Amino acid sequence: MNPLEPTGAELRAMLDLVGGRLATFLDGIAEAPATDTDGGAKLARSLAEPMPERGRSLRSLLGVLFERVVPTALHTSGPGYLAYIPGGGLPVSAVADLIAGITNRYVGLWMAAPGLVQLETNVLRWFCGMIGWDEAAGGILTSGGSVANLVALVTARRERLPPNFLGGIIYASSHAHHSVRKAALIAGFPVENVREVALDAAFRMRVDDLEARIAEDRAAGLTPFLVVGSAGTTAVGAVDPLTVIADVCARERLWMHVDAAYGGFFLLTERGRAALDGIARADSVTLDPHKGLFLPYGTGCILMRDRETLRRAHSVSAGYLPPPQTEAERWDFAELGPELSRDARGLRVWLPLKLVGAGEFRKQLDEKLDLARRACEIVRARPGLEVVAEPVLSLFAFRVRDEDVQRRDARTRRLLAAINRPRRVFLTGVPLADGFVIRVCVLSFRTHGRSIDAFAEDLAAALDSPGLDDAARP
Ligand SMILES: Cc1ncc(COP(=O)(O)O)c(C=O)c1O
Repeated sequence: MNPLEPTGAELRAMLDLVGGRLATFLDGIAEAPATDTDGGAKLARSLAEPMPERGRSLRSLLGVLFERVVPTALHTSGPGYLAYIPGGGLPVSAVADLIAGITNRYVGLWMAAPGLVQLETNVLRWFCGMIGWDEAAGGILTSGGSVANLVALVTARRERLPPNFLGGIIYASSHAHHSVRKAALIAGFPVENVREVALDAAFRMRVDDLEARIAEDRAAGLTPFLVVGSAGTTAVGAVDPLTVIADVCARERLWMHVDAAYGGFFLLTERGRAALDGIARADSVTLDPHKGLFLPYGTGCILMRDRETLRRAHSVSAGYLPPPQTEAERWDFAELGPELSRDARGLRVWLPLKLVGAGEFRKQLDEKLDLARRACEIVRARPGLEVVAEPVLSLFAFRVRDEDVQRRDARTRRLLAAINRPRRVFLTGVPLADGFVIRVCVLSFRTHGRSIDAFAEDLAAALDSPGLDDAARP
């Protein structure tokens, strides 16, 4: 037997072994600790090794993976993961990946797998429809939101700036995701070309500050060209005033990009559509299916109101490739983005949407909106705590009530550690301009009422725990 070419029967045997391990993992997911990173450095060191010359059995390697490697981690696929922006990990998407990997069709060019490319095109068209865009729109699936923001920035640069683009200025609120600054750097802009627009009391971009900065930059001979609005900031979940930003962009002839990596899929819900009103006026939108559509990590998305803008920014021909498709409904993804060869990632979006329907996602996302509101009311009912950012979507932030800022920060940090200690839920915090806050972000498809009950109990126990205040004294 050639170990690189298993027969069908041998593949089944492998899948049986893997399936057994995964079934045990899935059945234990709800009870697993929300974090288990103790001993991580020792584990990592013990795993470092030279390239093996000979193979080992799959059974023994699965033992290493499932008994040693996988458990020591933040439990990002678990129901108690309310930290950062939770990802997903839909098992059915992993099944789609398996199909994509074993069939290994090529989706960079339409002619190589027209059916698979069409399924991915369907997904992108569904997303464009969700934004409110027509047939002229389009996009690509990326590895994540950061790459999506990069593609948007490069496309805006190509559309709005001359080849010598260094006078181009980008505007984003001071709470915009750091991938916007990173994208600017990768695209060749000095980081000083990214203006941090001030926030209002609800952590949204202040449009008066945006307008003042644009005017200032024009007066200085610079070239404003791009405004990035956030539809769900990572820090506190705020949604920038997209309609007003769109008015400014129209008046000033600027490209409008909306980073909806966190909040975009709430467009499937009525409340989300109201919160993200104005998004359809953007020139480009970042979505992150591995957040709001619960997919496994590795699936982002960039959409353009005019698909041709993507092509103009990315199309480069080569004699060894077939000529690009000229019919509008045949998309060559390699023509629309930076990648040539890549996985058939559309399948992992298409299969769950076809299998359970968008309605199930809408229901789940509505539930997350409700759960975040419930968790927020639990916090609000505690007189010793104050809600700093309301749950516009499914993320809110709070802190301990205390006049003394230093003591407040210390107590809030200690409260966060105490809530996380039982490892039933995992929350993270963030330093804001006026101090540290604890964030709760509900986005995992496995988070239901039980996890919010656990949060309520662990919050109550943390607030009652001796030492929460003592240690704060200087
Ligand atoms: C608002 C926002 N934009 C962009 C990103 C980057 O996305 P990714 O981690 O998929 O690259 C994130 C990640 O959390 C985010 O919250």
